[in-house]
Amino acid sequence: MDTPPAPARLSSARSGPLKGLARVPGDKSISHRALILGALAEGVTEIEGLLEGDDVRRTAAAMAAFGADVARLGESAAGGGRWRVTGRGRFVEPTDVVDCGNAGTGVRLIMGAAAGFDLAATFTGDGSLRGRPMNRVLKPLGEMGARWVCRSGGRLPLTLQGGGLRHVAYRLPEPSAQVKSAILLAGLNGAGCHVFEPEATRDHTEKMLTGFGAQLDVVEEAGGRRITLAGGQRLTGARVEVPADPSSAAFPLVAALITPGSEVTVPGMLLNPLRIGLLETLGEMGANLSVTHVRETGGELIGDVTARHSALKGVDVPPERAPSMIDEYPILAVAAAFAEGPTVMRGLEELFVKESDRYALMLAGLRACGVEVADDRAQAMMTVVGVSPGNHPVAGGARVTTHGDHRIAMSHLVMGLNAEAPIEVDEPGMIATSFPGFVSLMRGLGAEIGG
Ligand code: S3P
Repeated sequence: MDTPPAPARLSSARSGPLKGLARVPGDKSISHRALILGALAEGVTEIEGLLEGDDVRRTAAAMAAFGADVARLGESAAGGGRWRVTGRGRFVEPTDVVDCGNAGTGVRLIMGAAAGFDLAATFTGDGSLRGRPMNRVLKPLGEMGARWVCRSGGRLPLTLQGGGLRHVAYRLPEPSAQVKSAILLAGLNGAGCHVFEPEATRDHTEKMLTGFGAQLDVVEEAGGRRITLAGGQRLTGARVEVPADPSSAAFPLVAALITPGSEVTVPGMLLNPLRIGLLETLGEMGANLSVTHVRETGGELIGDVTARHSALKGVDVPPERAPSMIDEYPILAVAAAFAEGPTVMRGLEELFVKESDRYALMLAGLRACGVEVADDRAQAMMTVVGVSPGNHPVAGGARVTTHGDHRIAMSHLVMGLNAEAPIEVDEPGMIATSFPGFVSLMRGLGAEIGG
């Protein structure tokens, strides 16, 4: 499948009502895990609706490099890819550098999985990923007995030597599903592990490990979780249906909320409670959202989510909600820009170390578009001072620097749909890391987005 070259810039302009079905791609977190668990397992894993963004394609290539047979079988009926992974029940040593592109989830989970085997593997990524901290996974993997050489500050490129791991009992210092997952995947082929997360983070690894036949024990405790996994467990290939990604759905849904006359439905969206903090927050802001046809697939709740243009009001978003909407703060800030009254967002530390420093880029982008924002970085808190009365267009008319961050690009393009003057973003090609087809999907709903 040839993809046309991405334009150097994209811009969005004030649009008429957005209407229709937004079939957003498969969940990124589940897609990475389906490929990795499939490669660790013995036998065949069939994946329906795999996200075919650049991040996940890198993970697919990495799993082939670690010895799995990975094949794209075609298109799934409901969209996304049909893939088959035939695992060997173990990883083998890759013969070349493993390049995870832009994907923090990819590299951190694969490092964890690889650490369980007696092999050396060298990891790298794009400029953004090479700047992101790997210490958060290296610390627990080091306690388990893995060794590595890397650039200063725990940066990629990095060569990891796995095998002969000890049991670890680890308390997560930051709420990170990536770190939790890396420890669990290492423990699986090592001597097991006990992970305590004081704040619950997305639990796809736990659920999917169970689906692939592993035994693990999860105990909820005061908002957090204790997870115990015995080592030396074998996984068996499974069938995985990947639901629509709520982090991608957030863009057309918020676009509908802020664009007068709109009504947009995202079918089959993942409703895992640890992923839908944004829906809760938007509900508190007075968003007209409805969830219908709730059903279960592969151990996850999914449903059809409809958003209609709404008069939003500002709210105070509690810090404990951050893990369930960590990737959604940029688009929440856009919704807040159109709301009446201030929206206070707290507990934003993790935004400093995403694909970009999302805190800094949102602050700069919102201000460039004429939105008043109070900055309290020292307290990891930002307040978007909304307009009054509600649903007034924002000024726009800015060129926004995205530092190659897909979610910063999509958020500003959504903001432009109800701005006085167009908003332009750079590096729009990076949108394909998580949401290939974003521009054509949004145009199909009626959005004025162009190169
Ligand atoms: C992810 C976890 C989150 C999230 C990322 C996907 C995952 O990162 O931001 O997009 O799939 O485990 P952290 O674990 O760093 O919070």
